[in-house]
Amino acid sequence: MRTVTTVAELRAALETARGKGRSVALVPTMGNLHSGHIALVKRARDEAGLVVASVFVNPLQFGANEDLDSYPRTLAADQEKLQSAGCDLLFAPTVEQMYPHGQQQLTRVSVPQVSEGLCGGSRPGHFTGVATVVCKLFNLVQPDVAVFGQKDFQQLAVIRRMVRDLDIPVRLIGEPTVRAANGLALSSRNGYLSAAERDLAPILYRVLTTLADQIRQGRRDHAALLAEGRASIEAAGLQVDYLELRDALSLETATAESRQLVLLVAAFIGRTRLIDNLQLDLDSLE
Ligand code: PAJ
Repeated sequence: MRTVTTVAELRAALETARGKGRSVALVPTMGNLHSGHIALVKRARDEAGLVVASVFVNPLQFGANEDLDSYPRTLAADQEKLQSAGCDLLFAPTVEQMYPHGQQQLTRVSVPQVSEGLCGGSRPGHFTGVATVVCKLFNLVQPDVAVFGQKDFQQLAVIRRMVRDLDIPVRLIGEPTVRAANGLALSSRNGYLSAAERDLAPILYRVLTTLADQIRQGRRDHAALLAEGRASIEAAGLQVDYLELRDALSLETATAESRQLVLLVAAFIGRTRLIDNLQLDLDSLE
């Protein structure tokens, strides 16, 4: 695996690969890689001749009071994991390479509707930062296919909408969430948890699966169900940011007619904010 840090090197490496007729898959990340990220790289390996990963902690998607400065940066370990997973090319640019003209006056991609509410409600500007950097990465790499995790369900919906609306010629793949044995979704932010907090964190997935079971069994009083879920999470000592049931296709609030559903949760454990979600297909029950 080769690592490049400049746009010029990236373009040159891609030109060589494309000259050999290889298709290109891209896996964008912010680094501090875990098995969830690696599953995306392995999927990319199955999909294309050249696998490109990016590691870039994108300042544009962090709010003023968020963890941009403390976000873990572990490039050497990331390189080893990417190499073992079959990645061919790592793009690990500096902020100056990605935003040579600064961030203040930068052209941005804002995706209405699906960016609103959920994480978009709690983190104003976050999805504009995500869509802008992903659009730039798509323009730099021009991948045939790009792989993202369903763990960040709303992010994937935002990127799908951007690709559709701006006619970006890339095929998107959403990979299932990789979890620890206790159900906790793997996340770089799990590293912020103390040992005691780590024991509490699996409550999120436990509540999602309990709520999903009840919906599958026919419960349709969504508001009461979500209130029960919220109470269980808070009783464990977490602070719920949101717990919602949405239509998995439109991301709008689920109605009695919605058949593809997604439960989405964000909660604070101490100062660490974790997210998770669980999809449910009511049609597959019949
Ligand atoms: P990051 O949080 O590093 O995640 C990179 C990719 O890994 C995303 O597509 C995310 O959904 C996926 N991922 C994270 N945890 C996962 C898990 N447990 N199972 C499966 N996939 C998982 O998401 C970002 O970075 C950034 O917003 C980015 C898209 C790179 C733009 O800056």
